[in-house]
Amino acid sequence: MVAEAGQSWLIFWGHFHPMLVHLPIGMFFIAGILQFFSKQTTENHDVVVRILIWTTVFSILSAAMGWSLAQSGEYDPEALQIHQWLGISTCVLSAVLAFAMRSGMNPRPTNTLFILGLTCLTITGHYGGNLTHGSDYLTASLPGSARKMLGMKEAEAERKEVPKITNLPEAIVYTQLVKPLLTQKCTSCHNDQKQKGKLRLDTPDFILKGGEDGPIISEGKPLDSELIKRLLLDENDEHHMPPKGKTPLTENEIALLHWWVQHGADFTKKVAQLPADEKIKKVLTAYIKMEETQESPVFKLTIKAANEADLERIRKHGLLANPISKDQNFIEVNAINAPRVTSKELADLRAIQEQIVRLKLGNTRVGGDFIQEIAAMPLLIHLDLNHTKMADKDLEELKNMAYLESINLVGTQITDRGLVHLAKIKSLKRVYLWQTRVTEQGILALKKINPALTVKSGFKGKWPLEVDSTQMVLAK
Ligand code: HEC
Repeated sequence: MVAEAGQSWLIFWGHFHPMLVHLPIGMFFIAGILQFFSKQTTENHDVVVRILIWTTVFSILSAAMGWSLAQSGEYDPEALQIHQWLGISTCVLSAVLAFAMRSGMNPRPTNTLFILGLTCLTITGHYGGNLTHGSDYLTASLPGSARKMLGMKEAEAERKEVPKITNLPEAIVYTQLVKPLLTQKCTSCHNDQKQKGKLRLDTPDFILKGGEDGPIISEGKPLDSELIKRLLLDENDEHHMPPKGKTPLTENEIALLHWWVQHGADFTKKVAQLPADEKIKKVLTAYIKMEETQESPVFKLTIKAANEADLERIRKHGLLANPISKDQNFIEVNAINAPRVTSKELADLRAIQEQIVRLKLGNTRVGGDFIQEIAAMPLLIHLDLNHTKMADKDLEELKNMAYLESINLVGTQITDRGLVHLAKIKSLKRVYLWQTRVTEQGILALKKINPALTVKSGFKGKWPLEVDSTQMVLAK
């Protein structure tokens, strides 16, 4: 316990390092400016020497605090080593310089030492910044074109991209579901550069190794696993992960990690190889990204932009409402963060009905009373109504939709009678029907009317073995 308290104090003092270092940095540069850009009088010389002495004093103090901070073990050891030795070199150079100038060294070697010291200082600062902010802090905000020119990867975009899952049963649970989630919500603090709690969550080996309190996964026992326990704590608890102020995991995301740990936290198994109950099936289907095409004739149209005030009003309900790309006015509306949204709030979408091309209302409380509003969106291409209360008769309203290409009805009560209505939508190309009450005959009847349709109904069989048994690509 005593050792632990000592450690805490050490790290407490260490936290002053990032602030204090700026003092000697500023002083060293001022000394440099005076040395190079002002008259070389004796007075100036004395001032420079005095500044250098103080620079040395504060550098040593900062270095000591830096050393304390390093004891937290939260930093990438390699970058830390470089930063540390460069920092110490800077201290030494400023001390030598102060001493040499005081004893009256010639201007030429003095200037060389100065340049060496300032260079050392700059590089130290750069490594220090990388340690605190991550190695791409400086370049991450560059525009994409500039990053490309410099041969760099997409920064944020790459980190946030969720791999497209089209065949859920075949998806690798860790690679395609767990890892993207950890990348999005956890690895900003648990990575190769920063190891909060001495934990890295970026590779299987490090996940298994655990953090300062040992392993974080107890195989098959999610509730004994630190990885899961931390997510379930009260959000105000200081041990809650991610810490206060960061976007917490959604219920679905927690359920996913829980499921993964419960079945052994395996890094290679596919979705179909882990047992799944109704609840997790629902969670998993929410992760599927539907296939999309940019081929729709809609994208050849030129439309006017939505009113920003209308978008703001819609966003107040927790809905995401954004243009699908920078140079197009078409809008995607997504209710992923607003599961409680009902037809009443959704009525605000009327203001942007001319712009909506994708409408994702899966897992919300929307029902048949909203279907006419949907039918009034002239350019709608993609419609998600999975796990909603939509019923067979509601689908009839969609029959005149001109551009609707795909509709997701996973987890609804739709039966073959609903499919009859879908058959009337001429533009329709894909229908997703896992966990519905449609039958194989119903799908075949639909195929007769609309042979170009792809019907995905893979979750109808017994989970997991018969998964995808009735998936039919009816025609190409
Ligand atoms: C903003 C930074 C930050 C983010 C994001 C973050 N953590 Fe942490 N994490 C910490 C800090 C700081 C600690 C050490 C203090 C503590 O134990 O609470 C820690 C400790 C932990 C520990 C305990 C390690 C040990 O052995 O003591 C676990 C487990 C953990 N985090 C899991 C996660 C998970 C899972 C996520 C993503 C959902 C996450 N963290 C996101 C900062 C973060």
